[in-house]
Parts: sequence; structure tokens; C-alpha cells
Amino acid sequence: MTMGNNNHRGFWTTRFGFILAASGSAVGLGNIWKFPYIVGQNGGGAFVLIYLVCAFLVGLPIMLAEFTIGRKTNLNPVGAFQSLKPKTPWVGIGYMGMLGGFLILSFYGVVGGWTFAYVVKSITHTVGHFTSPKEASEFFGSFIANTGEVIFYHFLFMGVCVAIVLRGIHGGIEKACDILMPTLVIILFILMIRALTLPGAMEGVMFYLKPDFSKIGAQTILIALGQAFFSLSLGMGCMLTYGSYLSEKENLTSCAVYVVLLDTLIALLMGMVIFPAVFAMGLEPAEGPSLVFSVLPAVFTDMAFGTVASIIFFTLLAIAAVTSGISLLEVVVAYFIDQRGWNRKKAVLFTSGVIFVFGVPSGLSFGVLADAKLFGMTFFDHVDNIASNYLLPLGGMLTAVFIGWIWGTKRAEEEIEKHETTFHWAYVWGFLIRYITPVAVLFIFLARFLK
Ligand code: PHE
Repeated sequence: MTMGNNNHRGFWTTRFGFILAASGSAVGLGNIWKFPYIVGQNGGGAFVLIYLVCAFLVGLPIMLAEFTIGRKTNLNPVGAFQSLKPKTPWVGIGYMGMLGGFLILSFYGVVGGWTFAYVVKSITHTVGHFTSPKEASEFFGSFIANTGEVIFYHFLFMGVCVAIVLRGIHGGIEKACDILMPTLVIILFILMIRALTLPGAMEGVMFYLKPDFSKIGAQTILIALGQAFFSLSLGMGCMLTYGSYLSEKENLTSCAVYVVLLDTLIALLMGMVIFPAVFAMGLEPAEGPSLVFSVLPAVFTDMAFGTVASIIFFTLLAIAAVTSGISLLEVVVAYFIDQRGWNRKKAVLFTSGVIFVFGVPSGLSFGVLADAKLFGMTFFDHVDNIASNYLLPLGGMLTAVFIGWIWGTKRAEEEIEKHETTFHWAYVWGFLIRYITPVAVLFIFLARFLK
């Protein structure tokens, strides 16, 4: 039984389409842009290991929890928690998720804009023709400090998301992801081979794969956890919303496993592209948000068909960013449509307008506002930090507590088991979501605050 009469909302047409759409939300700037630079800043291999533990032990159970709540209720996050436990504070998880989506999209749109710009700059032969890696990096530095350009491309990125979300997303997303995901994996493999064959690449491989635990502290673990939530689109009701468009007959467990595997695979592959290249070119792995944008163009420069590779790579990155951007926007929009009775057009134009304006200071954080720091971090850093490292894990932990202890794993397991056959994964999950997942998140929070 589904709650509410929501058949007009539409459903994914196939299981494959759903997995691809959920992966489209998960795979994005988080894997390709953020993962490598965070690994670089946090010491390499040891961080990767901690990330993997977070993704599978904490992320996977929460993804299944979000799918389950979504499919059970067929509603947006606020409506979903409200309908499962009416008139209780648990609905707060839904509102927190909306806030998370709002904050993330505000800076995500800025970086999405950078990817658009690099597509254009690849076509016009600016990117991919540098004489040295240093030149590539300086070029990027001056581009992101250019107020006019950054705002223009930020606006363009939001405009594309708006155009898609205005039309409703199902057909579009399903089809786009169908082609995008396989192409992305193939391109990453080609780039990886190229990077691994550069002279001096082995040092990068060692940095990436050899764990050095001396660099790991409570803050690092919190960052790994935040990255797992960010990369898997968890803790803000995004996967819940996508699950709400899923039909009764699908096997939730295997969907969740596929999405987590694909997302992790792409992040890991990207690391294998970036770090060999970083070391081969004598660049700094801890360079931060500019890492991918300065390293790859340098790789493309002395590669056969470098311009073509550059155009294809940044186009794919831009599309991956859009398929995640629309999922962020959709969560905020769905609330205004379902709960406030707004029409789609008003909801999309209003929310995207406010998000764009709020994102402007993030866009300027590498230029005119670069020195406007609070506690050593720019506006961009703060928004990212609050949303990724606090709101998402907190939202995920509360979702786990809610489903494990308040709504009850018994009902959740029934929903999950609808399609289960031989081994009862749902019981393993029930144990994880009650005892392991929330405790792990709580521990990481405490360790961070008590240190
Ligand atoms: N998972 C997306 C990425 O890796 C970002 C995202 C976060 C999307 C949260 C939706 C919700 O780029």
C-alpha cells in the first residue's frame, strides 16, 4: 500500500532507469572534482580507506533507508516524515534536508559554472594548450577570480537546471543518464591509462594507495564521512525523493548496492587519473578546489587528441554536474509544490532565483571576496562545510534513528522484503541501521567536538 493518492507524480519506467537516475544524482562534482582534492588535502591512501568504510557501512544503509521511506510514502521529504509520524518534530529532518539542498546548490552552481566555462574554453582552444602545468594553474586562478565570467557561467548553469526541472525531470534524466554514465566510465579509463604512463606517475600511485595513518585525526574522519554523504547524495532527502517515484516491484537492496558501487567506482577511478598526473607534473596534491581544473588541462596539453579529450571530459563533467544539480533543485521545488500548493513554474523560478543570489558570494570567494575570511575560511568554504560536514551527516543520522527506532525496522523490512527472495538482507540492514550507522555518525561528531 502506498500512502496518499499520488499516481499523478509519475514513476520511473524501468529499474535500470531508476538506478541510472539515482546514480546521476550521486555521480557529479563530488566524485570528479571534490573527491580528488579532498584526498589530496587529507593525506592520500589512509583517507581513501576511511572513505570506503564510511560509504559502505554508513552510506549504503542510509541510502536503503531513504529509498524505503520514499517508496513507502510516495512523497517529498517533508511530506514523507509528516505522513509517517504526523505532528511530531521528526518532520524537521525534511526541513533540514531542504536547507541542505538549498546550501549545496548555491555553491554547486558556481562550480557547475566553472565546468561550463571549461567546455567553452576547450572549444576555443584556450584550455588544452598550455606550455606548462604552472600556466594551466595560473590560467584557472585568474579565471575564477574574474567576477563577470564566474557569475555569467554560474547563471548559465542554474538556467540549464531550471529549464530541465521546469519540464519535469523523469524522461529527460532517464535518457541522458543512459548514455552519460557508460561514456563517462570509458573516458575515465582512457585518461587513467594516459596518466599512469606519464613519467613519474608511480609516486602519485603510492600517495593514493599507500595509507599513512599519521595524517588522520577526528577532523579527517568527519571530512571522509561528510564526503560520503555528499557524494552519495544522502542525508537531505534526495534519494528519498527519487525513491518516491519507484514502483512497488523493484528490489530496493540491489538498487542501493548498484548506486553505491557505481559512485565509488567513479570516485576511485578519478583519483587514479589525478594523482599520477599531479606527481608526474610536479604539482601540489593539496592544492584544493582548483586541483582538477589545473591538472587535467595540463595532461590534455601533451596528449594526442588533447583538445578533443578536453572537450569531451569537461562536457561530461558539466552534464554530471547538471544531473546532480537538478536533483538538488527538485528537492526544494517538490516541497513548495506538494506542501505549499505552488505550481511548478512558480516554485522553480522562485527557489532557483533565491539560490542563485545566495550563491553569488560563493562565486566571488576566489576573487574579490578571497580575503574576506572568517576563521580562516571563505564564504564558499563555510557553506560547503556547514552543509556537507554537518547538515548531511546529521540528517542521515536522524533518518537512521527515525527508521530504526521510531517508525520501526519491522515495517521498513516489510517494505524492503517485498521483492526479496533467498537471503534476508533486510535483517542485516535492520541491524546496521539501528546499532551501527547512527552510532558511527554520533561517534564521529563527538570525537570532533570533544577533541
Ligand atoms: N552527489 C552529488 C555529487 O557527488 C552532489 C549532491 C549532493 C547531489 C546532495 C544531491 C544531493 O556531485
